[in-house]
Amino acid sequence: MPSILLLGVSGLVGSHLILALRDHCPGLPVTVFLRNKNLDVYLYETAKVDKVVHGTFDEKDKIVALAKTHDIVINVGSSWDVPLSEAIVEGLKQQPDGKKRTLIHMSGTGNFVDKRWTDGAFHADTKVWSDDDTEDMKLINPEMLNGGPDTVVLNASRDSQIGTFIVFPSGIYGEAAGPVPALGVIQLVFREKAQELGFVPYVGDGSAIFNCLHVKAITPFMLLLLGLALQEDKSQRSVYERCFIIGGQEMPWKAASEAFAKSLHAEGVIPSPEARSVKLEEAGGGELPMLMASNMRLTSPRAQRLGYKNEEVSLEEYLKQYDQYLN
Ligand SMILES: NC(=O)c1ccc[n+]([C@@H]2O[C@H](COP(=O)([O-])OP(=O)(O)OC[C@H]3O[C@@H](n4cnc5c(N)ncnc54)[C@H](OP(=O)(O)O)[C@@H]3O)[C@@H](O)[C@H]2O)c1
Ligand SMILES: *[C@@H]1O[C@H](CO)[C@@H](O)[C@H](O)[C@H]1NC(C)=O
Repeated sequence: MPSILLLGVSGLVGSHLILALRDHCPGLPVTVFLRNKNLDVYLYETAKVDKVVHGTFDEKDKIVALAKTHDIVINVGSSWDVPLSEAIVEGLKQQPDGKKRTLIHMSGTGNFVDKRWTDGAFHADTKVWSDDDTEDMKLINPEMLNGGPDTVVLNASRDSQIGTFIVFPSGIYGEAAGPVPALGVIQLVFREKAQELGFVPYVGDGSAIFNCLHVKAITPFMLLLLGLALQEDKSQRSVYERCFIIGGQEMPWKAASEAFAKSLHAEGVIPSPEARSVKLEEAGGGELPMLMASNMRLTSPRAQRLGYKNEEVSLEEYLKQYDQYLN
């Protein structure tokens, strides 16, 4: 049976994915690579992984060796770490000539923020990115938020025998499934921003569009993609037809900030449950201000044809449930 190497098992997405692999692909042996040394019992006994290897993403030799010895590598650990993606690709390239090998890489729709406008307002002419438009996918480049690793993966697919798939989720909300309460990227940056400023901001009138999805919508799609990877022959499609955008609800950034403000207030992180309008320059550090200032619009016909659906609760409903749970 094909073996899987999973990076990112202790994260928001990875914590769900490992349990889905256990439940739906029990025949596929999974190796996990992680730095947290306190999860071995959980991983072996509950998540039923075949092998746990400890290490960090800058241990290149370990990653090359693991990628060389697994049929399918799934990276839900980092969409920013270029040397990590290079090490995975290097290991996969070292596999015997003619042998099938696959890389499923998780990127993000932060690539597709339309930075022509940074005033936080809705703009009807915002570019709508489609995973079914290979010309759109050809525009992916290292200047984009997650574009460094994406370019490494796209190049690897063009230049070698590696079958690559890239999944671009929009902002992810929801709870982690394992013993680590991982918030994932977006929920973490909202929390850190609230701690930095003492309130949750939005830029300008906050009518710019944010797109988000529940973590539980991601796992079934990853299984569909894995099924495709297992059965397909790489030569059947171009690298640009191996990209999938998965999103969900479109909402104004103001509404997202208001929902986070209520929830973070209920948790005692900030004194007020109200979100506050700021100018971009007043929104502080990190990537969140850049995201909030602009619109991000997507459409997913290719992912939908493979069976992608988002039928989970909305961000507001999810965060409301969380408030009640805390109070
Ligand atoms: N959450 C979002 O809103 C969102 C949206 C779009 C795209 N994405 C992308 O989707 C992927 C999964 O996201 P996520 O929200 O599940 O992320 P996450 O919760 O932050 O999980 C990241 C995982 O990678 C591991 N990791 C990070 N740096 C590491 C290092 N240097 N060495 C070893 N392990 C390391 C973490 O391990 P530790 O537990 O040890 O930290 C964790 O298991 C990421 O590539 C992310 O950028 C996320
Ligand atoms: C990807 O390939 C292009 C075209 O061959 C090349 O210009 C670029 O440097 C490569 N990038 C990476 C990160 O390998």
